[in-house]
Amino acid sequence: MHIPENIVWHESSVTKAERANQKKHKSVVIWFTGLSGSGKSTLSVALEKALYHLGIHTYRLDGDNVRHGLNKNLGFSPEDRTENIRRIGEVSKLMVDAGIVTLTAFISPYREDRDKVRAILDENEFIEVFVKCSLDACEQRDPKGLYKKARSGEIKDFTGIDAPYEEPVHPEILIDTEKESLEDSIQTIIKYLEINKYLSK
Ligand code: ADX
Repeated sequence: MHIPENIVWHESSVTKAERANQKKHKSVVIWFTGLSGSGKSTLSVALEKALYHLGIHTYRLDGDNVRHGLNKNLGFSPEDRTENIRRIGEVSKLMVDAGIVTLTAFISPYREDRDKVRAILDENEFIEVFVKCSLDACEQRDPKGLYKKARSGEIKDFTGIDAPYEEPVHPEILIDTEKESLEDSIQTIIKYLEINKYLSK
């Protein structure tokens, strides 16, 4: 998209490295993707709590919440979902710039949209977590009763029913919520963050 003339980017005088130094940890986006009901919100809430107790500065962006405010003008057409993810990507980038470990929980069904978010961040600032769960299991869980409505035709374009979900090809982390406990899943992610030195400066 065209950037208007006379708008000049101002560099901040506090660098990302300085912020990391101050906080004693790096900043990164931990991007959960998966079907509705797969466990993205549950995982991100539990992970945020665990990171908080480790003294890490975090912030969580969640599909249902962001759609109440920043993205309340967006629906679920392919174009609106793309715009939803684009905005979340830009907000995440700002959060990372601010030195925060940012957790996002959006279906983000299109591979291209997720890859575009990865592309606007620096290398190693985007950790894609594929929250794997079969459609059958998500439908059984149906925590919000939305699959039932989608099956009856009350909701159109529902991911997994009559709208697509494109699985990540090479996610940094895969969590199978039908097989792994919540505690084990959180440990897997924390171990990944430790091994890759995100939790130290
Ligand atoms: S995304 O596709 O644009 O990434 P997002 O994560 O923001 O979706 O929102 C998904 C949530 O909106 C679901 O968990 C569900 O509660 C609700 N929702 C309402 N309508 C739909 C729909 N047609 N498809 C998927 N989710 C829907």
